[in-house]
Amino acid sequence: MDDGPWTMDDGRFPPTRHSGPIYAFRGSAVTPYSDILAGAKTVLERNWREGRNDCDQDFGYTCPDTAKYPDQFFWDSCFHALAWSRIDPRRAMRELRTLAAAQQPSGLIGHTMFWYGPCRLSRAFTYNLLDRNALQTATIQPPLLGWVWAEVAERAGDHHFAEEGLAVVTRFHDYLQQARADADGLIGILQPDESGLDATPAYDAPLGWRSHPKVGFLALQNFNRRRGYDYRRVVADGGFHATDVLVNSAWVLGWEGLARLGHPDAAARAEHLTQSLVARLYDPATGFFFAEGPTGERLPVSTWAGLAPLALEHLPLPLLSRVVDEHLLNPERFWLRYPVPSTAASEPSFEPGSSRYLWIERYWRGPTWLFSTWFILRGLLRLGREAEAAHLVEQTTALVERSGFREYYNPLTGEGMGARAFGTSTVLVECAALADEALGSERVVA
Ligand code: GLC
Repeated sequence: MDDGPWTMDDGRFPPTRHSGPIYAFRGSAVTPYSDILAGAKTVLERNWREGRNDCDQDFGYTCPDTAKYPDQFFWDSCFHALAWSRIDPRRAMRELRTLAAAQQPSGLIGHTMFWYGPCRLSRAFTYNLLDRNALQTATIQPPLLGWVWAEVAERAGDHHFAEEGLAVVTRFHDYLQQARADADGLIGILQPDESGLDATPAYDAPLGWRSHPKVGFLALQNFNRRRGYDYRRVVADGGFHATDVLVNSAWVLGWEGLARLGHPDAAARAEHLTQSLVARLYDPATGFFFAEGPTGERLPVSTWAGLAPLALEHLPLPLLSRVVDEHLLNPERFWLRYPVPSTAASEPSFEPGSSRYLWIERYWRGPTWLFSTWFILRGLLRLGREAEAAHLVEQTTALVERSGFREYYNPLTGEGMGARAFGTSTVLVECAALADEALGSERVVA
């Protein structure tokens, strides 16, 4: 195989010259997995940003997209680090150290970091900033850092890096515990974008006219901004807040990772939090996880967030099987041609193609994002559902081969949408490698 370029300008692969197995086979030098790896490397390198900011801080991170998302996004960076760890672990470490460099004295690491100076004017109104010159938002994204730090430290075999992570993630978790946690340990969010799923229909009912990106969303942000995005104040003043399944799944994973980094209480915390997640957000009547709204009400909209707990180590196996069999593998709900849609196909709000309100894109109302593949694949592998795990990775690979590393895809047709050469979709590299490690080449040959 020659040296690329392995992606076209729009992030697509050139037509593959290989036939045979679909991905990731140990021991074979030339396979489409090497295409995925090479394509991902091209995208990650193209989106890599590094330098020194006005505060003399060194930074190096991957932006999700050079035009649409030039900044550092918290959970995108976590996935970039996982992909980098399969390609160049030093970059993975640098990406995470850059998140650590953004840590506030309180322990907070925001949803978005602006390393090149204050946020663009065009975004300043809609980003959650405490003031115009803030170098990061005052809100959070799914707190996966602990998990990812542990993965990268182990792969890099660098125990100094693990020690750094132990300190950074402990401070971050202490902050979340103090600022966001309820008595059962689960943490709350102030706005749907804190869940990573900006316009998810999960919160349409309690938000109504204030849901993203309707005009009332600005009023919601303003309410929160006037309270310094302080969760406790917002709750006390009767503002919107929710207990989100994806955010809390990431929170548990963060504790699982912190245990691997050497925190003495973290393993017990992860176990306890998994129990809290099940007790509070699992609906035994339907066998699915749903978010809880501001009055403690269950919000019964099926989105892929309800599948995110599949990634958790301590989720009881019977419950895991039930979510998989009754929901994930249901072709009327999530097991579409290109799984997994961000909203179940059975929901009235499901829109597989591009969704807009006026001219503004509405995210996470049906298309497939590859963020979700990673969570779901882990559950399938834990359950030993080899055929389904292989199918998920094959179909995800097919999406990228067909449409490139796009931001999201139509789960029925595979059409790519949103940003092109989208960094976070390179998480496919991690998914293919996980499947290969767990299943081995013989079992996943198509
Ligand atoms: C969108 C997504 C969010 C992601 C960001 C950058 O806002 O909703 O989850 O972090 O894009 O990719």
